[in-house]
Amino acid sequence: MKGVQNIYHYSYTLSILLVFLVLILFYPALSIYVNTMSSSESLTISSNRTLVSSDGVFELGFFKPSGLSRWYLGIWYKKVSEKTYAWVANRDNPLSNSIGTLKISGNNLVLLGQSNNTVWSTNRTRGNARSSVIAELLPNGNFVMRYSNNKDSSGFLWQSFDFPTDTLLPEMKLGYNLKTGRNRFLTSWRSYDDPSTGIFAYKLDIRRGLPEFILINQFLNQRVEMQRSGPWNGMEFSGIPEVQGLNYMVYNYTENSEEIAYSFHMTNQSIYSRLTVSDYTVDRFTWIPPSSAWNLFWSLPTDVCDPLYLCGSYSYCDLNTSPNCNCIRGFVPKNRQQWDLREGSEGCVRTTQLSCTGDGFLRLNNMKLPDTKTATVDRRIDVKKCEERCLSDCNCTSFATADVRNGGLGCVFWTGDLVEMRKQAVGGQDLYVRLNAADLDFSSGEKRDRTGKIISWSIGVSIMLILSVIVFCFWRRRQKQAKADAAPIGNQVLMNEVVLPRKRRFFSGEDEVENLELPLMEFETVVTATEHFSDFNKVGKGGFGVVYKGRLVDGQEIAVKRLSEMSTQGTDEFMNEVRLIAKLQHNNLVRLLGCCIYEGEKILIYEYLENLSLDSHLFG
Ligand SMILES: *[C@@H]1O[C@H](CO)[C@@H](O)[C@H](O)[C@H]1NC(C)=O
Ligand SMILES: *[C@@H]1O[C@H](CO)[C@@H](O)[C@H](O)[C@H]1NC(C)=O
Ligand SMILES: *[C@@H]1O[C@H](CO)[C@@H](O)[C@H](O)[C@H]1NC(C)=O
Ligand SMILES: *[C@@H]1O[C@H](CO)[C@@H](O)[C@H](O)[C@H]1NC(C)=O
Ligand SMILES: *[C@@H]1O[C@H](CO)[C@@H](O)[C@H](O)[C@H]1NC(C)=O
Ligand SMILES: *[C@@H]1O[C@H](CO)[C@@H](O)[C@H](O)[C@H]1NC(C)=O
Repeated sequence: MKGVQNIYHYSYTLSILLVFLVLILFYPALSIYVNTMSSSESLTISSNRTLVSSDGVFELGFFKPSGLSRWYLGIWYKKVSEKTYAWVANRDNPLSNSIGTLKISGNNLVLLGQSNNTVWSTNRTRGNARSSVIAELLPNGNFVMRYSNNKDSSGFLWQSFDFPTDTLLPEMKLGYNLKTGRNRFLTSWRSYDDPSTGIFAYKLDIRRGLPEFILINQFLNQRVEMQRSGPWNGMEFSGIPEVQGLNYMVYNYTENSEEIAYSFHMTNQSIYSRLTVSDYTVDRFTWIPPSSAWNLFWSLPTDVCDPLYLCGSYSYCDLNTSPNCNCIRGFVPKNRQQWDLREGSEGCVRTTQLSCTGDGFLRLNNMKLPDTKTATVDRRIDVKKCEERCLSDCNCTSFATADVRNGGLGCVFWTGDLVEMRKQAVGGQDLYVRLNAADLDFSSGEKRDRTGKIISWSIGVSIMLILSVIVFCFWRRRQKQAKADAAPIGNQVLMNEVVLPRKRRFFSGEDEVENLELPLMEFETVVTATEHFSDFNKVGKGGFGVVYKGRLVDGQEIAVKRLSEMSTQGTDEFMNEVRLIAKLQHNNLVRLLGCCIYEGEKILIYEYLENLSLDSHLFG
């Protein structure tokens, strides 16, 4: 009898063990972590109970910063040994002692203090609880209140992701929910161990022409902007060149009728990343298992170029130059003394005022776009239309594409002074700055692509032409020389109508000019016009030599081509060739105005073409 009882007992124990085994095998999360709280349950400080997300990443419960007797309800990373809080519920209203209860009351989550006073509440307007309401800590760290039978995120009654504290988690959105009018932003802790609202905020500002994130210091009700992200350009914020092509994080910026928001997600869920605003900085940290500490991925402000308004209007900051502030080409420092003493905040002013009708654009690449306070955006038009639109508005100072993907789409244009720009080593985007045509010279690397290409192409063609003529003539002369050598008398006169003395210091252009259709120019004149061939006037360089821009005393602008001394050609041959080129002149070619020979220097002087006039030549 006893044996039978024993067998019953054993099989009973065995089956219970089996049931447990099955539960553990098939519902590991359920058996290990509690991630929900029903309306009949509560969390109290004294019970030490917490909620843990099903994947064990986040934990929700009460905590007490070291040294203080104040209790807060919050969410932290469970696996990271360095205690890191992602969210705090009652940051500005702590529990004053270790008596506190979190529970569901009607359709609200409430945090009650010692005398059942409400310390914190989700403040939802009361509705009928038709179905039972539960609270759940989701795997992404979102603490939500929902009907127990509706897991869909659109049906959440309340979620902590809508009320960020100082940390942006993956899948959490920062920015405007246009349906509720709520702007979700980050606010720093007051200090390292005080979660109450601090004075630094990272906030999307949509009052600008294009939304930008701004790091704000709100000390004593004074709002001081510290750093701006630059507008989103389809791939990144132009002022935060996050490492592109990095496959671990995917950034998402959405702008539609429902929201203007930024978020990111991780492609490998074992790696954590968070964006946190603290004193004076916004930081992105990553945690790679099994590390015990967070790794700083990037931080703002990063360098000397980051503080706002370091370089004044029409100047940009560049880490690779000294001083860091640079006037845009076509602009000069407003206050030369301050500028020279490396105080760039007064910025730069135009060399030549805009003329409204005769203006063009200078392209600057890798730029963080200027402050968008005076910017307007039109997402429907392309770059070409954008340029036309900017040109047609005399107040327009600059334009750029709104979305750099697929060759550029959308148009941003500025009507005010351009402020707060920087040149990035990588990232950033093209910015087209309006200049008077007089300040735009050809061949500058920063100039607009199309014009640049046309000009280098036409220079290339004319040089080819000149060289082939020279080579041809040289060959002809060689042949004649050979003949002349055979017949030894009167060779010089036979070959040249003009015999040029070899040892002259320079050609005044007075004696022989009648015979030539081309004026000879004094070397001094050329030197003066190009300011001693200064680098500043240099507009191009090639195998043939260097091209300078110059201005004659009478104001005429010239392009001076200083043939390299590699050329072994003799003086009279050169003159012959020049005459030939002069005869070849055509309306659509850049006109050769003259030449100059001086002690081995051979110089060609062309009419200087503004890019606009060349454009109009080529495109009517
Ligand atoms: C809660 O934790 C504290 C400290 O770890 C401990 O002193 C206390 O006994 C715990 N309470 C319960 C109910 O487990
Ligand atoms: C708070 O509420 C609980 C449950 O409703 C009750 O048992 C307790 O006596 C209340 N405490 C005080 C101080 O009112
Ligand atoms: C809820 O409303 C009360 C009173 O209007 C307010 O003091 C409190 O800050 C609100 N709590 C939250 C979490 O918004
Ligand atoms: C970005 O977020 C929006 C909603 O906020 C979503 O519809 C879209 O699919 C997301 N895009 C990517 C690439 O994740
Ligand atoms: C994700 O990261 C973890 C930790 O570094 C690594 O062990 C794992 O192989 C990664 N998974 C994938 C799919 O790359
Ligand atoms: C240009 O700016 C001036 C002064 O700010 C303003 O009066 C004028 O209306 C503007 N013109 C256009 C076309 O916006």
